[in-house]
Amino acid sequence: MDVKLAPSILAADFGRLTEQVQEIQRAGDVDRIHVDVMDGLFVPNLSFGPMIVEVLRRATTLPLDLHLMIVEPRRYYAAFADSGANALTVHVEACPHLHRDIEEIHHRGCRAGVALNPGTSPVLIDSVLDVADIVLVMSVNPGFGGQQFIPESIGKLRRVRHLLDSTGSHAEVGVDGGIGVATAGEVVRAGANVLIAGSAVFHHPEGIAAALRDLRKAAGRVAN
Ligand code: DX5
Ligand code: ZN
Repeated sequence: MDVKLAPSILAADFGRLTEQVQEIQRAGDVDRIHVDVMDGLFVPNLSFGPMIVEVLRRATTLPLDLHLMIVEPRRYYAAFADSGANALTVHVEACPHLHRDIEEIHHRGCRAGVALNPGTSPVLIDSVLDVADIVLVMSVNPGFGGQQFIPESIGKLRRVRHLLDSTGSHAEVGVDGGIGVATAGEVVRAGANVLIAGSAVFHHPEGIAAALRDLRKAAGRVAN
């Protein structure tokens, strides 16, 4: 299985955000940048808005995947699409009209993702599998970087993978939270094909390029 790496800039040094994003691109082997948008309501933390996405857009040609941890995300689809986002992933828990949200995201020219909190059943995405481009399985409760991987996420990934395979859906399966060399192999084996990693990429003692090499090795070892 083709496994994609998506560094999460939540763990970057914000004083050197542009340089760090360029360093990621130079290192190669990265498929996209993961941008965590938090509103202080859906999750207890605050992070980036469209103005920062514009800065990132100028800094890199890599796709920008936005993870919207916000209530009423549809209020911001236009702003984020205009600021240069390539994909918008919304939380199932924040979208009572999930199917319409996906249509609106597509209408804005972005790929559409649906994210599941650790406490949310994959059953809730059953009816959108033919239209969603990405299923994002949260392996921590969202809001902060550097948290411990929740082991039950492995079973969730297997269920999601089975759901997609049995319906013929080609959606990607992302996993987000606590991903590093210790967890990458197992999540890939369980069905993930997009690994989102913050701390493991930006807090590696030997730097970003070494971190990406280690992560790729860990992801590949079990997948083969
Ligand atoms: C958590 C975010 C994650 C976070 C992951 O709410 O959605 O993307 O950056 O950070 P690590 O990889 O440090 O767990
Ligand atoms: Zn995220």
